[in-house]
Amino acid sequence: MILIDGKKVAAEMKLEIAAKVELMKKSSKKTPHLAAILVGHDGGSETYVAYKIKDCAEVGYKSSLFRFEDDVKEDALLNKVKELNEDDDIDGFIVQLPLPGHISEQKVIESIDPKKDVDGFHPENLGRMVIGLPSFVSATPFGIVELIKRYNIETSGRNCVILGRSNIVGRPLSILMSQKAVNATVTVAHSRTKNIKELCHSADILIAAIGVPGFVKGDMVSEGAVVIDVGTTRVKSDQTKSGWKLKGDVLFEEVADKCSYITPVPGGVGPMTRVSLLYNTLLASSGEIYK
Ligand code: GUN
Repeated sequence: MILIDGKKVAAEMKLEIAAKVELMKKSSKKTPHLAAILVGHDGGSETYVAYKIKDCAEVGYKSSLFRFEDDVKEDALLNKVKELNEDDDIDGFIVQLPLPGHISEQKVIESIDPKKDVDGFHPENLGRMVIGLPSFVSATPFGIVELIKRYNIETSGRNCVILGRSNIVGRPLSILMSQKAVNATVTVAHSRTKNIKELCHSADILIAAIGVPGFVKGDMVSEGAVVIDVGTTRVKSDQTKSGWKLKGDVLFEEVADKCSYITPVPGGVGPMTRVSLLYNTLLASSGEIYK
């Protein structure tokens, strides 16, 4: 069994990005600039945004954070998005999700200029991705495909089962995995799927993205399968300083020995998600997607 080290691959990618930023700065091109909008004080969102800002500093990007309280009016948020759309110094920005219930996430996402949508959540980017045009691909699906590529894992003609059909992970990943560059045969399973155990058994590559800790058990995985765990549920823990720890969707201790490759949680997909946002920001800064 090979443990897929997302932390190591992400660190390599960060060095590659930092080297490119150095070159851009030397040739007096502008410094890539990522902005984030954060609404409220949700613990998870605070942590993720803090990581994004830290990551920017590490590769030499500028970053900006714009905060709003939970009771912000939708119009005020939409005005901020418009302002960032029009700010020439900002190459890309994200609005951290989830947003409070009185704000339409879809409306906010659709108000982002697709050329600055480094999360790849805008329907224009998703649509372009589906038909194979250059697009911003959302960070987790992009990171997973990159991880599979960098470990030289065979995908052509292999059965890939994806558990979960979210707009952020499962659905876009299902498209990427079936594209010509990857050539997997993809099945998307969800809450109404029947015989999920048998289906998982048919997977050469099993990707779990449902957010149910420990859902994938040892008896659901075939010998030699590649298992990618996207789950990052925060559970209370008295063993960590923060008081919580991350749990994956895969019961690692039952599954790992059967696998040819497996990602751990933490240290698998998570670091790849973070570095993918940096990668998209570089693409936005150099204008490579929308020429
Ligand atoms: N919330 C959970 N994941 C993400 C992400 O990738 N981007 C944004 N904007 N919000 C999130």
